[in-house]
Amino acid sequence: MAAKDGLGAPISDNMTAEDIALNMKEISVAEFFEKNRHLLGYENSSKAMLTIVKEGVDNSLDACEDAGILPELKVTVKQLGIDRFRIIMEDNGPGVVEAKMALAFGKMLFGSKFHRLKQSRGKQGLGIRGAILYAQLTTGKPAKIRTSTGDAKVHEFELLIDTVRNEPKISAHTTAPNKERWHGVSIELEIEGVYVERAQSIHEYLKRTAIANPYAHIIYNGPNGVLKYERTTNTMPKHPKEIKPHPYGIELGILIRMMATTRSQNVRSFLMGEFSRVGGSSADQILALAKLEAGRKPASIANDEAERLHKSMQMVKLIAPPTDCISPMTETLIENGLKKELEADFYVAITRPPSVYRGNPFQVEVGLAYGGKLNPQGAAELYRFANKVPLLYHQSSCAITKAVEEVDWKRYGLQQSSGGMPVGPLVVLVHFASVWVPFTSEGKEAIAEYPEIIKDIKLAIQDAGRNLASFVRSQRKSREGQMRRQLFERYIPVVAESLEKLTGKDHAPIEMKLEAMVKAGKLIIVEPAEETKTETKKAEPAEDEGADE
Ligand SMILES: Nc1ncnc2c1ncn2[C@@H]1O[C@H](COP(=O)(O)OP(=O)(O)O)[C@@H](O)[C@H]1O
Ligand SMILES: [Mg+2]
Repeated sequence: MAAKDGLGAPISDNMTAEDIALNMKEISVAEFFEKNRHLLGYENSSKAMLTIVKEGVDNSLDACEDAGILPELKVTVKQLGIDRFRIIMEDNGPGVVEAKMALAFGKMLFGSKFHRLKQSRGKQGLGIRGAILYAQLTTGKPAKIRTSTGDAKVHEFELLIDTVRNEPKISAHTTAPNKERWHGVSIELEIEGVYVERAQSIHEYLKRTAIANPYAHIIYNGPNGVLKYERTTNTMPKHPKEIKPHPYGIELGILIRMMATTRSQNVRSFLMGEFSRVGGSSADQILALAKLEAGRKPASIANDEAERLHKSMQMVKLIAPPTDCISPMTETLIENGLKKELEADFYVAITRPPSVYRGNPFQVEVGLAYGGKLNPQGAAELYRFANKVPLLYHQSSCAITKAVEEVDWKRYGLQQSSGGMPVGPLVVLVHFASVWVPFTSEGKEAIAEYPEIIKDIKLAIQDAGRNLASFVRSQRKSREGQMRRQLFERYIPVVAESLEKLTGKDHAPIEMKLEAMVKAGKLIIVEPAEETKTETKKAEPAEDEGADE
């Protein structure tokens, strides 16, 4: 203890190592997020409402897709007081089994998705627990959860999270007979919130979710009425496959941990069994380069040996990871989704071939909607998606935004703001799908700026941009043609009178004939002079991929 003077007061505030040691104790993850709720997207009351709905809807869509069930979702937001709301989220998914109910909703970092390399909306095992914790922090009320797997019973229980121990606290649990054999999950939370219907709102989130997931039927019963997002296809997306990690993406620490816990008998079978694209001969090449014997037990590999092994894994030429683990939205569904929610003149969608960053397969898709009723003023709207989830916050720090701003939009007939965003009646949709989305934070709002990712997004935009450019050009041409026709129409009386003087025939029938010819489009109005044409040619986009690189 620090020294005291005669009266028992500390002489100095300095602490000894022993004082500090007395204060050392484990921090529960739930307590950590109780203090840092902003990390999960709960920094203010309006964003909190959106985050809750997002976590619930993401889980429902993940569960329905895993089970091959066409999603029927119902989101209800009821205002109870000035800043009090009840949010209910219900799905028709597979439900949660009784043995896992409490943990699935009441213990943080406990989930079914973290340990598998498979495309899904949730991953970390925090999402819905964050929402329950927020309700508990702001109103003290437990979450009311109803679930059934479609068997004879529906379970209803009330749950709080014991944050000190990171354990569920069930305050009531009843069961009711399940005559209709209902299956799914319903979560009811009472929270403090602020309701908005502007840009970053539940409305906007559901609208964009409907674009990306057109096989889902979503009913939103909000404080200002009911909104329905109808299903436009009954075809569920291709089921994403789970894959093993690829050697190029593994970090040294993870390799060491994997070797310490593997069941493989020797390091050769470990490489072949736990990584994708490592066959017998690749394993032998890696081991020869690392100067390790094939029969060594993985757990016996020392750290310096592991470092050599890790380096060799990056040096041997291997096939890229399999890409059937990715479930894209597809060009047809993107176009349909944009057409359903936006009134534009032109739509185009591009799905790139899959690519790889840090050994993780990913795929980029871009959709553009242009003209029509889209806002012609100011910067284009950017719709960002990661694994079909709309990202509404942190736009400026996202790889998608960076890629959009790095594209030279002038090549595609559009203006560009000084920051780089295209200007005009345009919506740019970008979807990034991967078995592991490199989010910049636990709130899952922005994608980290890996060069491989930015490059692929730019290539997709350039591809879509070339399609847009031909539309913009033909639209501009027809507009210019129309203007020239209108100009000529104004001069018809003058031309007719001149012709009367030249030919001696009456101007009135000449005038009528000229007007009829303009109307029928039979009059060819001369294009602009040659010099102007060559000038525009120079500014045309280069047609090769990566022209912006
Ligand atoms: N609506 C639901 N239907 C079925 N299972 C669910 C549902 N919501 C949550 N779960 C289960 O609870 C787990 C925890 O969810 P969550 O806290 O959002 O973490 P994450 O989605 O990141 O895994 C999920 O991994 C899933 O297994
Ligand atoms: Mg989740």
